[in-house]
Amino acid sequence: MNTFSIEEFATECKAAMAKAGASSDDRQQAAKACLQQTLAQNDLQHIIDSLDAAIPADADIGEMMVHTSPELTMLYARVPARFQSGIHNHTVFACIGQLVGAEVNTIYEQTDKGIQIDRTQTVSAGEVISLPEDAIHYIENPNNETGYALHIYGGDFNAVMDERSLWDFDDLQETAFNFQGLLKESIKGMKQNRNQAGLDALLTAIPSAASLMNS
Ligand SMILES: [Fe+2]
Repeated sequence: MNTFSIEEFATECKAAMAKAGASSDDRQQAAKACLQQTLAQNDLQHIIDSLDAAIPADADIGEMMVHTSPELTMLYARVPARFQSGIHNHTVFACIGQLVGAEVNTIYEQTDKGIQIDRTQTVSAGEVISLPEDAIHYIENPNNETGYALHIYGGDFNAVMDERSLWDFDDLQETAFNFQGLLKESIKGMKQNRNQAGLDALLTAIPSAASLMNS
C-alpha cells in the first residue's frame, strides 16, 4: 500500500500529538507511533519519492524541511556516505524514521563538568527512534552510500533556531547553533577521525562547504 503524503502525515501526526496531551514525552510517543505505522504501511522508496518531489532539485540544507507548523517540523534527511555531524541539540523532541541505510546516534548526557557520552543508538531502514527535547547528540552515517531518513520534530524548527546549541569537539564547550557552525564542527569531527570518505561525500553533497575545510 502506497498512500504516503506529506500533508496527510502531518495532519495525522498533529492530531495524534494533540490527543496525547500537553506533556512533551507523551507527544513524542504519539509522534513516534505515527511514524512507525507510516514506515510499516508504505513502500519506503515511495516515501523517498514523495519527499524528493517536495524539494527543489538542487535543494540546500535549509530547503529540506518539507513541513513546518507550530507543532511539527518534517525534515527530509539525505545524509552523505560516512558523514559525521557536529554535536547539537534540538530543544524539541525528535523522531528519526530511517528509510535507506542507517544512522548511528552518539548521545550525550549533561553532568556537573559539562557533557559526556552516554550511549550510542543505531536506527536502520524501517525503524524509528526518538529523542527527548533535552537530547544532545551527533549522528554518523556508517555506510558508504547516502542514507535517507524522515526526521520529525515536536515544534517549528525555524522558531527554535535561536534557542539551539552546538558543542565544540575540542573542549565540549556549548556555543550558539547555526548551520555554518554545525558544518564546521562536522568537518572538525571527521578530520579528527581521519574520515576522508565522509569529508569527500560532504563536499560532493554541499560544494559550498569547501570554504570551511581549512578554517
Ligand atoms: Fe539532530
